Amino acid sequence: MGFLSDTLARVKPSPTIAVSNMAQELKAAGKDIIGLGAGEPDFDTPDNIKTAAKAAIDAGRTKYTAVDGITELKTAISAKFKRDNDLHYTAKQISVATGGKQILFNALMASLNPGDEVIIPAPYWVSYPDMVLLAGGTPVPVVAGIESAFKITPAQLEAAITPRTKWLIFNSPSNPTGAGYSWAELKGLTDVLMRHPHVWIMSDDMYEHLIFDDFKFCSPAQVEPGLYDRTLTCNGVSKAYAMTGWRIGYAGGPVHLIAAMRKVQSQSTSNPCSVSQWAAVEALNGPQEILTANRKLFQNRRDLVVSMLNQALGIDCPRPDGAFYVYPSIKGCIGKTSGAGTLITDDEVFATALLEETGVAVVFGAAFGVSPNFRVSYATSETALQEACKRIQTFCAGLK
Ligand SMILES: Cc1ncc(COP(=O)(O)O)c(C=O)c1O
Repeated sequence: MGFLSDTLARVKPSPTIAVSNMAQELKAAGKDIIGLGAGEPDFDTPDNIKTAAKAAIDAGRTKYTAVDGITELKTAISAKFKRDNDLHYTAKQISVATGGKQILFNALMASLNPGDEVIIPAPYWVSYPDMVLLAGGTPVPVVAGIESAFKITPAQLEAAITPRTKWLIFNSPSNPTGAGYSWAELKGLTDVLMRHPHVWIMSDDMYEHLIFDDFKFCSPAQVEPGLYDRTLTCNGVSKAYAMTGWRIGYAGGPVHLIAAMRKVQSQSTSNPCSVSQWAAVEALNGPQEILTANRKLFQNRRDLVVSMLNQALGIDCPRPDGAFYVYPSIKGCIGKTSGAGTLITDDEVFATALLEETGVAVVFGAAFGVSPNFRVSYATSETALQEACKRIQTFCAGLK
């Protein structure tokens, strides 16, 4: 009998973190590496938020807090849901955790029994299937490839639902594709769920504020109020306010689910960092100009990356609606041989050869459940992006 748990044996370590680590190691060894793997803004947390955190420390707000968040933060979150999403959640319906990741994990731990199925549209954020596995459930991927703009259809959702389906995890704009569902597209999915009252929806709205052109963000309980009692609306400050290290995520949902999530958290991490909670109060209540400024900045970067990658031979890069990722197809590169003699058989081989031969770190598509693709995070400077895309163009031009 092995020492480690059987459940853990079913789970993979995060491939995106593995790519970032590999890039950092190569950099430390003196190699000229451009990392396009990490999903975090490349700029600092705004000053007003840092000041609020320093004030919290000076005021001695450094003790345990209520397990799932201080009242002031829950009030700020409640106001945010009303302001941005037209959703009404009272303090009792709100949970605060150590990052968006813990919110999702708590919800799955609190609700899944062995054999429960969770529908996950693919390409998906790498953590969803593994979190479901850790919580004892069964992930059910539903694939939406490049030909359907990486969005599942109502018919696909309908076909995936069984009596054991507990959740649909919904993420728009999406990590890794940046694809966003319009109101009408989302209504198509919520109409299906209205016919299946045993299925709940976990909406991961982490990239709500990173949207481009005239795309309008919408959240499931807003589009279909009939789903309000079985929706968990998840969000966080990590991406919108460049606060990945502060670790604050939150959700609004039915009181009994929120209470169950509190129970999970009370026996694992207890409260999220007290100082970070005060910083998040300022992020949500303070000036929101950063959101508009970031949108412009990321839209310019998206345009640059999409245009340059589409000039690379064998690559097809759709133009996403939001987030800070593109998810190009490398179908045209499969079966060719790189300058250094590697036969490109799949996207993992492509990403490894790209890193070794050009120093550009991207994450291979198989990690997100749809191949042959790779994910670029363009949350880095335009200079770095330009240089990285040039290297990708040269690499692709060298494929024979
Ligand atoms: C879709 C999605 N949800 C949730 C998270 C987790 O965010 P946090 O850093 O707040 O845990 C991420 C982070 O990469 C993400 O991409």
